[in-house]
Amino acid sequence: MNTQPSTVIPSFGRRRGRKLRQSRSVLMETLLPELLITLPSAACNLQLTTLLPNPRLPLWFEIGFGNGEHLVGQAMRNPGVNFIGVEPYINGMASLLAAIDRHALTHIRIFDGDARALLEALPDASIDRLFVLFPDPWPKARHHKKRLVSVNSLALFHRKLKEGGRLRIATDHADYCTSILENLCICGKFTWSARVQADWSDPPADWVRTRYQEKAEAEGRKATFLEWVKA
Ligand SMILES: C[S@@+](CC[C@H](N)C(=O)[O-])C[C@H]1O[C@@H](n2cnc3c(N)ncnc32)[C@H](O)[C@@H]1O
Repeated sequence: MNTQPSTVIPSFGRRRGRKLRQSRSVLMETLLPELLITLPSAACNLQLTTLLPNPRLPLWFEIGFGNGEHLVGQAMRNPGVNFIGVEPYINGMASLLAAIDRHALTHIRIFDGDARALLEALPDASIDRLFVLFPDPWPKARHHKKRLVSVNSLALFHRKLKEGGRLRIATDHADYCTSILENLCICGKFTWSARVQADWSDPPADWVRTRYQEKAEAEGRKATFLEWVKA
């Protein structure tokens, strides 16, 4: 697994679930090494020209893709985009690999560690769209420091997005939503694209439903959709 700087508080929980079925274990051994991004050992930038299938095309980056429904859905709709997906949860990674294999997708690259470590290693102003969909809410007050969307991470997201680049965050957790909005205001570097209530209460036109969203809705929690633009 790719490692993360020791100063960063981990924002994810378990990395492993139930035992992988045979076909997925094979994909972890065969397909994953072809698509996996490895962090450089020294403090130097990764080169997009060696990293991406077609570096002249836009780059969309998803943090915490879970089982990969959104990443795969967007990749199928957008063949002219490079995708990087990040997920430390091994079973989620295996689900994504199965979908990449099934649909013969060639424009996705993946990272299995903390997305913030990979973002630090990417050139500034290199990402067109950044997705953080249903980040772990860490509801207990003593765990709030684990929340991924902090003032620091927003500053990092801002640095890595291109001018006019878009940050999409969705959450079903009201308290986390408030904290995200507060942090975006403190950060002060993004403009909220919402004009009317439907812009944040309804899914955006290009939305792809995720497994976590299905679970939240089944339990009666409604999502908020935040779309912010790098000013
Ligand atoms: C609640 S799940 C949502 C998964 C998916 N986005 C969905 O909507 O179904 C949050 C995911 O984010 C991942 N995650 C948390 N912190 C992360 C980080 N720093 N970098 C990459 N992934 C992270 C977790 O492993 C987890 O799978």
